[in-house]
Amino acid sequence: MAHAATTAAALFFFFLLHAAVRADAAATLSQGQSLGANDRLVSPGGTFALAFFTPTEGDPSRRYLGVMYARAKEQTVPWVANRDAPVSASSAYSAAVTASGELRVMEGDRVAWSTNTSSPLGNVTLAIVDNGNIQLTAGGGDGGQPELVWQSFDQPADTFLPGMKITLDRRNGAVVSRTLFTSWRSASDPGTGDFTLGQDPLGSAQLYIWRRSPRGGGGAGGEENATYWRSGQWANTNFVGVPWRSLYVYGFKLNGDPSQRDGVMSYVFNTYNTSEYRFMLHPNGTETCYMLLDTGEWETVWSQPTIPCHAYNTCGANAECAAGNNGRPVCTCLKGFEPRDPAAYGGGNWAQGCVRSAPLTCETNVSGGGGGGVGFADLPGVKLPNFATWVTTVGDENACSQTCLANCSCGAYSYSIGTSCLTWGQELLDIYQFPDGEGYHLHVKVPASILDTGSKTRRWTTVVIAVIVVVAVLAGCGLLLWKCRRRIKEKLGIVGSRGKPRLPSLLPVRESRQDFSGPKQPEQEEAEGGKKCELPLFPLEVVAAATGDFSADNKLGEGGFGHVYKGKLPGGEEVAVKRLSRSSGQGLEEFKNEVILIAKLQHRNLVKLLGCCIQGEEKILVYEYMPNKSLDAFLFDPARRGLLDWKTRFHIIEGIARGLLYLHRDSRLRVVHRDLKASNILLDRDMNPKISDFGMARIFGGDQNQVNTNRVVGTLGYMSPEYAMEGLFSVRSDVYSFGILILEIVSGQKNSSFHHMEGSINIVGYAWQLWSAGKGEELVDPAVRAAAGAATAEALRCVHMALLCVQDHACDRPDVPYVVMALGSDSCVLPTPKPPTFTLQCTSSDRDGLFGGGHADESYSACDLTVTMLQGR
Ligand SMILES: *[C@@H]1O[C@H](CO)[C@@H](O)[C@H](O)[C@H]1NC(C)=O
Ligand SMILES: *[C@@H]1O[C@H](CO)[C@@H](O)[C@H](O)[C@H]1NC(C)=O
Ligand SMILES: *[C@@H]1O[C@H](CO)[C@@H](O)[C@H](O)[C@H]1NC(C)=O
Ligand SMILES: *[C@@H]1O[C@H](CO)[C@@H](O)[C@H](O)[C@H]1NC(C)=O
Ligand SMILES: *[C@@H]1O[C@H](CO)[C@@H](O)[C@H](O)[C@H]1NC(C)=O
Ligand SMILES: *[C@@H]1O[C@H](CO)[C@@H](O)[C@H](O)[C@H]1NC(C)=O
Ligand SMILES: *[C@@H]1O[C@H](CO)[C@@H](O)[C@H](O)[C@H]1NC(C)=O
Repeated sequence: MAHAATTAAALFFFFLLHAAVRADAAATLSQGQSLGANDRLVSPGGTFALAFFTPTEGDPSRRYLGVMYARAKEQTVPWVANRDAPVSASSAYSAAVTASGELRVMEGDRVAWSTNTSSPLGNVTLAIVDNGNIQLTAGGGDGGQPELVWQSFDQPADTFLPGMKITLDRRNGAVVSRTLFTSWRSASDPGTGDFTLGQDPLGSAQLYIWRRSPRGGGGAGGEENATYWRSGQWANTNFVGVPWRSLYVYGFKLNGDPSQRDGVMSYVFNTYNTSEYRFMLHPNGTETCYMLLDTGEWETVWSQPTIPCHAYNTCGANAECAAGNNGRPVCTCLKGFEPRDPAAYGGGNWAQGCVRSAPLTCETNVSGGGGGGVGFADLPGVKLPNFATWVTTVGDENACSQTCLANCSCGAYSYSIGTSCLTWGQELLDIYQFPDGEGYHLHVKVPASILDTGSKTRRWTTVVIAVIVVVAVLAGCGLLLWKCRRRIKEKLGIVGSRGKPRLPSLLPVRESRQDFSGPKQPEQEEAEGGKKCELPLFPLEVVAAATGDFSADNKLGEGGFGHVYKGKLPGGEEVAVKRLSRSSGQGLEEFKNEVILIAKLQHRNLVKLLGCCIQGEEKILVYEYMPNKSLDAFLFDPARRGLLDWKTRFHIIEGIARGLLYLHRDSRLRVVHRDLKASNILLDRDMNPKISDFGMARIFGGDQNQVNTNRVVGTLGYMSPEYAMEGLFSVRSDVYSFGILILEIVSGQKNSSFHHMEGSINIVGYAWQLWSAGKGEELVDPAVRAAAGAATAEALRCVHMALLCVQDHACDRPDVPYVVMALGSDSCVLPTPKPPTFTLQCTSSDRDGLFGGGHADESYSACDLTVTMLQGR
């Protein structure tokens, strides 16, 4: 080691005494080597170069060491080393990796800039990576892994590149470290400028741009660093204030929990090709995302702030900002508020904001016409205000609104899948009204008297307006659908012809539009496509690369709909890829529409659909990956069955019931699964059950004959009598399949393995015989029976519920809300099930019973059997 160090030192002296070692077109610089005025280090793929430069139109006597895009037409410098310490062009300057292990920029003998690093390992090497990062590594001899000493990605300039992190590390309310980007002083001067971008130091997970007050000026506001811009809250795949299509692989991603103020939170940006995108903080404080075109030119993808309304708090508290002509801000007080200072307001001095017209009386009750109650005024399509509180304990909109009602200091709430429940105090700051239907829904607490005046004329006006709106929406839907289709075609065309994903087609540049022509027209909104088309589209090459070209090694299984493969996305995310069998009998548009609908179904007991891929004949669905595979892999495997103790089994039954409840009742689609079975229940890391393949019937429902020939109808043994015999299905057919599933989970026996069982043709008959003979516990899987103990009662209750679910007549079966309620309560007395005549005697049920409803037990909700499809026999 000592010997290596002396050699290195000798090399360094060699460099000092003699001419610089030329490193042109090399990717690394070793200890003792240096980079001269005309040398370049080029990254292995040729995308980035490290060299000395003078900014375009800058002072030619000042030279800087920087990273440059090799392919870009105009000089583009995402990183500068000595930004505040240029070296003189007339001197002998160079950059060198010293014996001590630093990267230094030298002007003659003077050190202009240094990384100030050192490493005892020796063999320090500087390398430029293909993502634009400059790394100093040390060691690496004898086959060991070199150690990272320093990298430029940790000390960014004004540019955020894919591969970087925007990090905030907070402990006990104090900022430990964070990533900051600082603008150049001007386009021709890389020196530290006035604008800084980074995460909110208070830990709200928002990105901020701050502006430093002019030097020397005391400043009217007195603030040293004023907030200039804010991204808005993190909404799972995008920022609330940045209308960025939620692309799953491409786009920002947050590592960390936005509802926690302490801890490490870091944003990363994933792309297919890291050299294509950059985010630059301009000297004037505008943050712009650019994409590199094949021509070497930069295209603007997205840019903010470009109009005053984008900037922070332009209208003051409790007011919303909408862009008027030429982006001029138009400020309006929120409903229930009036200008704080009417004179100043009229004169265009908005900063004072608005105050409540009438004070709020604090009541935990929305009362209709009375004067005392409070309610919520709706404000759709906005960038949500600053200073939100995340209410993580609440899971739906109603509970969120109740939380706000119950809290006197809550002034507003918002609920969306991306953000979940957010509440605000009384001052609502920085609300921007999006021009084109983007944005989020804010509910502002106001006196109930404002919401409902009770006047008849008002009511009539409301009715008339409602009718007009409904007609307009219906007309619009048609148009939208048509536009949607066209856009999909366009996208496909683009992906196909260029052979790689083009973000701009998915990310329309709306924000940079300066000329807003008055209030938005309905046609305009529809032409934009709105959020209706939103679904991550994966290019085929990404999916193919992720699954090793659909290699047999990656195959997870095979179902009626096609093969399932395990895949790994460029970001490292594991996914399950379902390649649908080609003849799904559906056109591209119908397929896309269905997938978009199904992607909206989100519940913790449903497998998440991440996106799809449609290219030529290929139709592919991309799901989250479930490491524990499916339930049948545990339940019916003698070796692993014991891993499922009773507690886990009951947890699984409850989870499936909740997922079904969501599908049947709580989702707007009211999806009937039609193929519920053990192999369609997947298990996550913590053995939480997730229903998969829901919505497949919708996707494949286009042509009935196709459905039959492709075996995509339910699975024998799980099919309800009316479905198997007559092709009728409803939510109660799913209840039947669920009953079978409960019996399988309790007994650990496969329904289809009952053929040979004495006296009964299937699990239903077998269970009925044991249960009616008072020997229900014999049904419980021997693998858990011994340990179940007190839980035997719970298991018996499950058998009882299962027998209710598998009754012959659809109307006799409980609905899922009842099942969920009854499973969760010990006190609820279950009705007595009717014997399964169909399964015992194998006779067809009479049709009248199916629709008559006369059999419906009073303890169930009214029989709302909906026949969703009548199939030919
Ligand atoms: C290295 O140290 C010098 C002197 O302490 C300091 O001025 C300079 O900013 C440091 N360089 C870096 C890159 O931190
Ligand atoms: C120096 O590092 C490089 C890689 O960084 C490694 O290949 C080489 O073996 C190392 N040499 C010594 C002498 O440690
Ligand atoms: C303002 O910003 C500068 C540069 O980021 C920083 O050094 C300074 O501490 C900040 N001042 C305040 C009051 O936050
Ligand atoms: C990334 O894009 C550049 C320019 O379009 C291209 O030269 C390069 O080969 C691409 N890299 C990959 C991995 O596709
Ligand atoms: C800031 O500068 C960029 C680049 O020159 C320009 O495109 C943008 O319009 C400017 N923004 C404002 C608000 O002046
Ligand atoms: C809500 O208000 C109504 C009418 O004012 C009253 O009858 C009811 O008891 C109130 N409920 C609660 C929970 O305060
Ligand atoms: C009430 O709401 C405010 C504003 O959102 C929040 O800061 C506060 O923590 C809430 N109080 C309670 C008890 O939840």
